[in-house]
Amino acid sequence: MSEKETAPYGAASETSAQAPAAHQHTDAETSLSSVRKIRTLHLAQAKAAGEKFAMLTCYDFLTARAFDRAGIETLLVGDSAANVVLGYDSTLSITLDEMIPMVASVVRGAQRALVVADLPFGTYELSPQQAVESATRMVKEAGAHAVKLELDASQTEWVRALVRAGIPVVAHVGFTPQAENVLGGFRVQGRGDSSARVVEDARALAEAGAFAILMEMVTVETARAVDQAVGSVPTIGIGASNVTTGQVLVWQDAFGLRTEGRLPKFVRQFAQVGQVLEDAARNYRTAVVEGSFPAEEHTFN
Ligand code: KIV
Repeated sequence: MSEKETAPYGAASETSAQAPAAHQHTDAETSLSSVRKIRTLHLAQAKAAGEKFAMLTCYDFLTARAFDRAGIETLLVGDSAANVVLGYDSTLSITLDEMIPMVASVVRGAQRALVVADLPFGTYELSPQQAVESATRMVKEAGAHAVKLELDASQTEWVRALVRAGIPVVAHVGFTPQAENVLGGFRVQGRGDSSARVVEDARALAEAGAFAILMEMVTVETARAVDQAVGSVPTIGIGASNVTTGQVLVWQDAFGLRTEGRLPKFVRQFAQVGQVLEDAARNYRTAVVEGSFPAEEHTFN
């Protein structure tokens, strides 16, 4: 496919009694999984322990419930909702008002996962103050635990202002979809000279206080350099190889709900939910049309 394409963990009250202390973790499977409520520090502790975690996008209550039960550590209410929920052509169209109810429903569904809300295009670029105002709505009206912004090294003040306001930040670097028109489309970042720029963006934003760096569509060399440059700050990759602490995918891509269009190279399909849904709908219709549903057991006497 072408490159241009579409005490781990935490306070005792939130950790099961059997959970060993941070420095004792040797089994990557058992440490994060013992945490009852994932917080930002658990992700940093995971990186320190050499443990990986998973993030999935999520946009509604029942899906959040399912992903939470499955043990997914972090849920991202991404502005990808513009495409996969609302059917817009571009993520640039979605508004804060459209995203807030989605974030609130995911927060209500997630008992354990850390819920990160994307700040949509046009809601933070003007100033750190605008970012704080938008992020505050995500936290106050929707209950988001953290926000994600697409930033570069010239915007460290955005991170500082948000952290000062008490709002944890994931900084998104590399390919930043909201800057698609400036970047010239969906392109792998961090090739050649641009690698240093991506690394510097990540380093500066981590130093400013971002609790995680999310990097999208970068080369493995760049991803490795970023992961090292940000030290103890965990990295989350999407199309950024397996050198990161965490991975994120848009669930409709990863589980096959989206059945039209070409999938990016970095997606693995773990299920064909779209086909399951289509078959179920077809079976339902057939039963209705044939008159076999509702049957006696579905009928009130
Ligand atoms: O909006 C989104 O879903 C994202 C992911 C692709 C990381 O930003």
